Amino acid sequence: MSGGPRQGRAARVVVAIDGPAGSGKSSVSRASARILGFDYQDSGAAYRALAWFALENGIDTADAEAVIASLPAFDYEIGIDPDDYFVRVGAVDVTHAIRDPRISAVVSLVARVPVVRAHLVDLFRTVIERSARPGIITEGRDITTVVCPGADIRILLTASEEARMVRRSAELPSESAAAVAEKLSSRDAQDSRVVDFMNAAEGVTTLDSTDLDFDQTVQAVVALVAPPVE
Ligand code: CDP
Repeated sequence: MSGGPRQGRAARVVVAIDGPAGSGKSSVSRASARILGFDYQDSGAAYRALAWFALENGIDTADAEAVIASLPAFDYEIGIDPDDYFVRVGAVDVTHAIRDPRISAVVSLVARVPVVRAHLVDLFRTVIERSARPGIITEGRDITTVVCPGADIRILLTASEEARMVRRSAELPSESAAAVAEKLSSRDAQDSRVVDFMNAAEGVTTLDSTDLDFDQTVQAVVALVAPPVE
């Protein structure tokens, strides 16, 4: 057999991007993937989809055993084409519903369960293996360290706490800036008990976007993946 997806796989570049809430990793990763012609995998959406599924089925998200027991019935799909992003649980489109503050409030509870993490990490790796584009950008909290420590390019996207709060509160106009800041820092604190996503592991490039606008941050990621020819 010649050509086709097999060739695409051989040439594939794997990019791993980690970062805290509000660092811009989702929107930056997606825009960078679009420019590079890569796939884009939003791992956080899978944890959010599971939190949505648990709430929908009356499962107590604080009860790890109950969350684990729900996994076999948790059927989700996340679009990896940066131009056709969607999140579905069963037949329900939850693309927007999973961004709701009621999901953000409980997602760390399901994400801290080791069996849940192992289950989703396997699925993330399968998606990376099956990508037929020249490359894939996967973003989340533990991608550079746990999911793809061997990725070709590993980036920790950071921004000052203040910049992250300002960005997130612009995305959630219905909430007060103080409420957004409080929830974001409490989620960061909960998440950092599970994964250290505030400090770059060895070999991971830190990209601080505090003083960069969106386009500049995307350009910086693209330059790390495909350095301009001198
Ligand atoms: O974009 P934001 O940082 O608000 O969150 P997200 O990427 O949508 O992730 C939502 C939640 O999923 C995080 O707060 C973590 O609890 C969890 N998560 C994780 O544990 N590991 C990942 N690789 C991605 C997300």
